[in-house]
Amino acid sequence: MSDFPLDLPLRPRRNRKSPGVRAMVRETRLTPEQLILPLFLHEGSSDQELESMPGCMRWGLDGMMREAEAALEVGIKAVVLFPKVEEQDKSRTGEGAIDDQGLIPNALRRLKKELPELVLITDVALDPYSSDGHDGILGNDGRILNDETVNVLVQQSLMQAAAGADIVSPSDMMDGRVGAIRDGLDCAGHTDVSILAYTAKYSSAFYGPFRGALDSAPKNGDKKTYQMDPANAREALRELALDEMEGADIVMVKPAGPYLDVIVHLREGTTLPIAAYQVSGEYLALKAASASGWLDERDSVLESLTGIARAGADMILTYFAKDAARWLREGR
Ligand code: PBG
Repeated sequence: MSDFPLDLPLRPRRNRKSPGVRAMVRETRLTPEQLILPLFLHEGSSDQELESMPGCMRWGLDGMMREAEAALEVGIKAVVLFPKVEEQDKSRTGEGAIDDQGLIPNALRRLKKELPELVLITDVALDPYSSDGHDGILGNDGRILNDETVNVLVQQSLMQAAAGADIVSPSDMMDGRVGAIRDGLDCAGHTDVSILAYTAKYSSAFYGPFRGALDSAPKNGDKKTYQMDPANAREALRELALDEMEGADIVMVKPAGPYLDVIVHLREGTTLPIAAYQVSGEYLALKAASASGWLDERDSVLESLTGIARAGADMILTYFAKDAARWLREGR
């Protein structure tokens, strides 16, 4: 009796037989232009290493320019800016967020002038400027004042648009902010400024290192009355419907890795481009595991980013953006 070869016409392994064939049948192609680099800024002129996020820096404006240029060189098209604000410049209502002489507008003007081709994305939320460490204004009864907050977020977006933002990105999760910001931008003539909405932003333990980097952790309580419950996926579709109706140009899921199913749901539910944010805790988990030699950094980072893209993300915000772009250009 001849057992070999088996009578087996369907052999999926034929499509994996060589690097050339594997490249031809690859379904997901990760490219540097999909990656968005977050940049932490501070008022000083020095560049500081971040204790809570090894391998990341808090840049002065000169350092920021060098880093942005380096990002462009490896094929990255966009950066998103986050400020660390000094304690004495924070307030209960977060006015610092609308100061057009602040760190972010200064950074925007400089980037726009010196690197006009770079896409500039700004974060719209009050937490870096709030003495309470919340994304919204805290009322005397300890509750977040949704509508009063939206009013400030609109002003913050207008100020950022005037300073050169190409895309404003509300990360605050207040109700109605996308529509209000769209309206405000249009009335002020900024019809070309896009909105990247944090559509499904979950109340996540994975933001810890970021809050350390910006010194923006809530002083009291948590963000559960505005950020979503990690247990909910259908609710993301409700947020999607609203953000779409209110005029979002791009919708985002955050964090990325633990929420791949939510990316899939959004992909199936919209024709809009989808962004996903591989957040600080995801970065740190991979960084720590590879620093101790437990994981191979390059392979595990590229695999995690490929997974996020495969789920349906068109673009990914990641602290690995520069390294990953370099690795992708070198070829796997
Ligand atoms: C807040 C904001 C947060 C992040 C981006 N914008 C943190 C939070 O909601 O507390 C997190 C990013 C990260 O962890 O990498 N507006």
